[in-house]
Amino acid sequence: MSGSSSPDPDVFRRLMGRWPTGVAIVTTRDGSTDYGLTVNGLLSISLHPPSLLVSLGDDADSCPAVARSRIFVANFLTAQQQSIGERFALSLAPGEKFRDVPLHRRGTGAAILDGSLGALECRVVAEFHVSDHRLFVGEVVAQELGAEASPLVFHRSHYTEL
Ligand SMILES: Cc1cc2nc3c(=O)[nH]c(=O)nc-3n(C[C@H](O)[C@H](O)[C@H](O)COP(=O)(O)O)c2cc1C
Repeated sequence: MSGSSSPDPDVFRRLMGRWPTGVAIVTTRDGSTDYGLTVNGLLSISLHPPSLLVSLGDDADSCPAVARSRIFVANFLTAQQQSIGERFALSLAPGEKFRDVPLHRRGTGAAILDGSLGALECRVVAEFHVSDHRLFVGEVVAQELGAEASPLVFHRSHYTEL
């Protein structure tokens, strides 16, 4: 293992790329506009109460939308939903991202995508600004367990499945 006093961001990026993750779509609703983006910066925080953390880049349109709305939904994708993961990673107008995507809504009003592994509907209880990202801690207010399906996995900059 090599070390350095000034860590090379490219080595960091390559190493993190070797670490497989699941893929989620984080959605929110600000006023009457739906926002959403593909995310793998997501961490389960605690069971009591159920809570999780999502990391959103300052550059993402969804980031200020979550900061304003104080709610979000984490939709966990199946391997069948790769095209949704690809679309929500693009820089598109919010309306374009949600075009023809089957969804429903519950209490917060944010989009819950049909056919996912499940969804956690959260209200923001803490927010931290770290470098060029905002970390939002969400307490789960409603949850849905969806399809018992193969999860979508991101590894070495590619989508794959288990
Ligand atoms: C597999 C994958 C994981 C991603 N994870 C994150 C993430 O955790 N946080 C983030 O801010 N962006 C992440 N992105 C990038 C966003 O999806 C992308 O910047 C998106 O265009 C932002 O959309 P918005 O500007 O409409 O919010 C990821 C992209 C991919 C393909």
